[in-house]
Amino acid sequence: MKRFCPNDLALPNVTGLSAYVPGVQPSESGWTKLNTNENPYPPSCRVANAIGKECERLRLYPDPTSKELRHALARYHGVNPSRVIVGNGSDDVLNLLFRTFSGADRPAGWTVPSYSLYPVLAGIQGCVPVLCEFDSDIRLPAAAIERCGANIFFLTSPNAPTGVAFPNREIDRLAGRFPGVLVIDEAYVDFARESAIALLDEHPNLVVARTFSKSYSLAGIRVGYAVASDAVVALLDRVRESYNVDRIAQAAARAALEDRTWCTETIGRILATRQRTLQRLAGLGWHTYPSEANFVFTRPVEATGRSGKSAAADLFEWLRAGRVLVRYFPCNPLTEAYLRVTIGTDSQMDRFFERVKSWPKNA
Ligand SMILES: Cc1ncc(COP(=O)(O)O)c(C=O)c1O
Repeated sequence: MKRFCPNDLALPNVTGLSAYVPGVQPSESGWTKLNTNENPYPPSCRVANAIGKECERLRLYPDPTSKELRHALARYHGVNPSRVIVGNGSDDVLNLLFRTFSGADRPAGWTVPSYSLYPVLAGIQGCVPVLCEFDSDIRLPAAAIERCGANIFFLTSPNAPTGVAFPNREIDRLAGRFPGVLVIDEAYVDFARESAIALLDEHPNLVVARTFSKSYSLAGIRVGYAVASDAVVALLDRVRESYNVDRIAQAAARAALEDRTWCTETIGRILATRQRTLQRLAGLGWHTYPSEANFVFTRPVEATGRSGKSAAADLFEWLRAGRVLVRYFPCNPLTEAYLRVTIGTDSQMDRFFERVKSWPKNA
C-alpha cells in the first residue's frame, strides 16, 4: 500500500502556505511585554462578575447568534441588530469576510504594510492578492485602491504597524468609488479621532470590523464584530460557524461594553502615556509616525547618527535580552528600520526607555 502522505492530499494552496506568526507570549513572568498591543490595564470588574454568573449555565450551548451582544452593540452604534455580526475575535470576522468574498477568481486586496494575517487568510482561499503599497508618509493610496480590481479590500485604520489613521473624508470618497467590498479594520479605533461607522449609511459596500481585544482589555476572551449592511451580514451569517462565540465570551463582552466609565478611563490613561512616549522619542530625535493607536512605530538612531535595518534589529535584540519585548518587522523596506512598541503603563514605558538608554549603540 502507498505510504500515507497528507501533503499529497491537501489543497496545494494550503501546503504552500506560511502560517501567521503571532507575537511572542512568554510563559514566565518578569517580561515587560510591549509586543502584541494588549491593554496594560485589567478589564472592567463587571467582567469577572458576568463570567462567574455564566459559569452556572455552561452545560448549555451558547446563543448561536450572540443575540444579546448583537443587540447591545447595535444600540451602542445606533444601528439595527441585523447589521451586526459577532465573531471569535475580529480575526474570525476577517476570516468570514475572506471566505465569503474572495477565492480563486475573486481577488482580495490590502495595503502594504498592514496586518500580516491578511495574506494567510487569502492564501487559504487560494485567491490572488492585490497589494497597494504605501509611500513612506503612509498616505492612503486611494487611486491605486480604486482601480486595483479586488473584489474585497482591507484597509487597516489606524494602520498597523505604523499607527497612522486615515480621515473619514478620504474613506468616504474611496468607498464611493471602489466597486467591491471595502473593509475598514478598526481594531485600534478607540484610540483614534474618528470611526468609519459614521459612513456606513452612505455606503452599502462598507464593512467596519472591531475588536474587544484592545480598548476593552479582553484579548484573552476573543470577541470581535463587524457592522455592515443587512445584506453583507446575512451572507457572513451563512458562513459563520454556528456556535462561534462561547457563553463566557458573550457575557464578558456585554459586561465590558456596558461599563463605559472604565473603558473611557483606561483609554484616557493610554492616550496620556502615548503622548508622553511620543515626546520622549522626539527628545531622542527618533522619527515616529503620528499614532492614533495604542502603539507607536519608531525608528531607532544610534549615537553615531546611523539608523536603518541593522540599528532596529540590534535594538530589538538588546531589548529582548533585557526582557523587554517589542515587535520587529524586518521583511519590508518601509518597516525594517522601525520597531513597534505597544503603549503600556507609565512604569512599563520607563523600563523601555531605561533599556534604550543602556543600549551600547546609544553610548
Ligand atoms: C489590525 C488588526 N486587526 C485585527 C486584529 C485581531 O484582533 P482580535 O484579537 O480581535 O482577533 C489585530 C490584532 O492584533 C490587528 O492588529
